[in-house]
Amino acid sequence: MSNSETPLTAIVREKYGAAALRVLDRVEGTAAAACCDPVSCNCGGAAFDGTVDPITADLYVRGETDTLPEAAVLASLGCGNPTALAELRPGEVVLDLGSGGGIDVLLSARRVGPDGKAYGLDMTDEMLALARRNAAEAGVTNVEFLRGRIEDIPLPDDSVDVIISNCVINLSGDKSRVLREAYRVLKPGGRFAVSDVVVQGALPDDVRRSMTLWVGCVAGALQDDEFVRLLHAAGFEDASVEMTRRYGADDARAFLVHAGLDMERVAAAVAGKVGAAFVRARKPASFTLRDATPADTGAVEALLTEADLPLAGVREALARPASGFVVAESDGRVVGVGGLEDCCDDVLLRSVAVAPAWRTRGLGRALVLRLIAEAEARGRRAMYLLTTTAEGYFPHFGFRAVDRANVPAEVQATEEFSRACPASAVVMVRSLGEAR
Ligand SMILES: C[S@@+](CC[C@H](N)C(=O)[O-])C[C@H]1O[C@@H](n2cnc3c(N)ncnc32)[C@H](O)[C@@H]1O
Repeated sequence: MSNSETPLTAIVREKYGAAALRVLDRVEGTAAAACCDPVSCNCGGAAFDGTVDPITADLYVRGETDTLPEAAVLASLGCGNPTALAELRPGEVVLDLGSGGGIDVLLSARRVGPDGKAYGLDMTDEMLALARRNAAEAGVTNVEFLRGRIEDIPLPDDSVDVIISNCVINLSGDKSRVLREAYRVLKPGGRFAVSDVVVQGALPDDVRRSMTLWVGCVAGALQDDEFVRLLHAAGFEDASVEMTRRYGADDARAFLVHAGLDMERVAAAVAGKVGAAFVRARKPASFTLRDATPADTGAVEALLTEADLPLAGVREALARPASGFVVAESDGRVVGVGGLEDCCDDVLLRSVAVAPAWRTRGLGRALVLRLIAEAEARGRRAMYLLTTTAEGYFPHFGFRAVDRANVPAEVQATEEFSRACPASAVVMVRSLGEAR
């Protein structure tokens, strides 16, 4: 690794190695905690001298880190709380780019549970040693810390559900490459959910050139619109940057203190322009929408059970041709379903469900549009549905609530209408084809 190391990488590694050793010294009592150096006072190191670091202070809510080892909390050098914002789900695989002492890996491991896994990736041996020590002390087994660079991630293609990172990408001298690597290892539909320092507007040239401020997470920060542009260039979709903390002039003085610049001039020039942000993006999902078949029965019933939808009549419906559609992931796993039941001139839309990990990825929309198109192709007049939870969703597709008394007798006579759905369910209707 060190053969191809740039001077910037060497400086970053040295500074964060020293920060890791200071934490170890402190928890093991092997040496007095050093007063802060340029790195230890901002982003590159917790302020062990009791001063408040404007970047790293108060990132986690009370209670969130109570059960973590002291060294993991002390080594927290991030600028946000990506695991809180990323909506991690049980069973998912998470990768933390630049995992440091492991705080976000340990929090992720808790969220993804024993069926999931949290990887941490870091290039600094001292940080890796600290993180592994913290994982052992926490008794967490679904974690693994990998040695390597975020520009060259040592994991296979399409192997990770969620990439998190906390104040690290700004440190890289090749951010495009980091984002391309993140895209490569994410599974189709996988999420990029990263906290980082970003800039809005232009920073003074001397700030951009300061190696101290680069290592301190400020000089290397991307502009917000550039971050979005690079994410899209790497292949991501739906990229966005949401500011979570903005640093004022006093904060700027705190991180400028060791930079050797004209503090007052630079503090005024950067105040309000630099902040922490939550950066989101998604690798486009790859899925196929196909006719449902009897072979899908088990998967469809599991999806409906998970979504708390009735199973009555589903097995029989799947035995009939053209009963509906399923969405299958690239590996063939069924992750969404939607059914149609003909009722003379009308049609009933039923059993629309998407697996939790696939929600918010456009599958439900694709299913509903496909089912509407199919009903129109069959020349049906109107599409009805019953819902207890999605009354606000279906109007996006032209549905409106309707009084039960106005529903045609054939639709009322269906199993779903008469028995399966609770009486409290809302009835909705959408005209089809020429009836619109
Ligand atoms: C500011 S600290 C953040 C640590 C951790 N994310 C946290 O929130 O506490 C940056 C970490 O990223 C690591 N790092 C920096 N650049 C890296 C790179 N190019 N590849 C891998 N790790 C890197 C450093 O070793 C350090 O542990």
